[in-house]
Amino acid sequence: MIVLGIETSCDETSVALVKDGREVLSNVVYSQIDVHKVYGGVVPEVASRHHVQKITVVFEEALKEAQISPQDIDLVAVTTHPGLIGSLLVGINAAKAFALAHGIKLVEVNHLHGHIYANYLESDFYFPVLALVVSGGHTELILMKDHFQFEVLGETLDDAVGESYDKVGRVLGLEYPAGMKVDALAITGTPSYQLPLVYLGKANFNFSFSGLKSAVINLINTAHMKKETIDIANLCASFQKVVVQVLVDKTMQAAIMHQVKHIVVAGGVAANKGLRQEMQAAVAKHPPLKLSFPPLKYCTDNAAMIAVAGYFQDKGE
Ligand code: KG4
Ligand code: ZN
Repeated sequence: MIVLGIETSCDETSVALVKDGREVLSNVVYSQIDVHKVYGGVVPEVASRHHVQKITVVFEEALKEAQISPQDIDLVAVTTHPGLIGSLLVGINAAKAFALAHGIKLVEVNHLHGHIYANYLESDFYFPVLALVVSGGHTELILMKDHFQFEVLGETLDDAVGESYDKVGRVLGLEYPAGMKVDALAITGTPSYQLPLVYLGKANFNFSFSGLKSAVINLINTAHMKKETIDIANLCASFQKVVVQVLVDKTMQAAIMHQVKHIVVAGGVAANKGLRQEMQAAVAKHPPLKLSFPPLKYCTDNAAMIAVAGYFQDKGE
């Protein structure tokens, strides 16, 4: 079964062709990062305009690279929510036009389900599965008793993890999106600064990161006032240590409480080296619990993950 995936929810215009939910025939991603980084974040109106400019060429490239013609395609899967409305509409309109013109079935995919299913490109799912979704816009713990059954156990009450990385990075003068840069600096530093760990109580699977972000910003402002220098690598290491500790502790608590067999980590922050390392160490203490991450290039937004999610969504309908 060949699925065409379309993703335009934020600042990546992407079209992919995926066979049987696993074999990526093509995954073309046009990233608008260079356009938005001068503003320090994504500007919605600018994003939709760039999607309009790029969608057709990305579409054509994906078909060409996969050597697939429209009549070979069995299903069209498009991200319809959540995301920037103007950006989403570009992908939705392209998907509807293509599906209608070629008489192909269309499924509407939730972006977060796409992130979770990026893991299927790496591993089968062993249910019950616990998904830790950590992206620029979301932080959620989701229990899955089977394919396409999602029960949200907890979510962030304020900032998403990726958003905190980007905001902390911005104060440190790092370019948007700063997550990867903070991660790279953290690996070279020592966690020498004291920062708050926020748990919100036992067996509470919600998260809160805004206090931590404010603590980092206060620390930097106080140092500036006192004319003290900040060791940026050590500050990144300190920030990453507490973020990773809260994510790992809550995920492990939820995994044990719900007796899951498999933890899947999803979203842009699933690329984080510190998170990968600490999750692996924690899961290793609980055999035969399994752990997977999406391949690095499928952690951030892409259409291949939407095609995989669409494949399973359609199977369940
Ligand atoms: O999933 P994604 O592409 O977009 C959303 O759906 O929101 O995630 C992008 C986010 C950005 O905030 C980016 O800074 C963060 O993922 N990110 C990272 C790393 N790589 C990307 N955060 C921490 N460490 C990384 N290595
Ligand atoms: Zn995303």
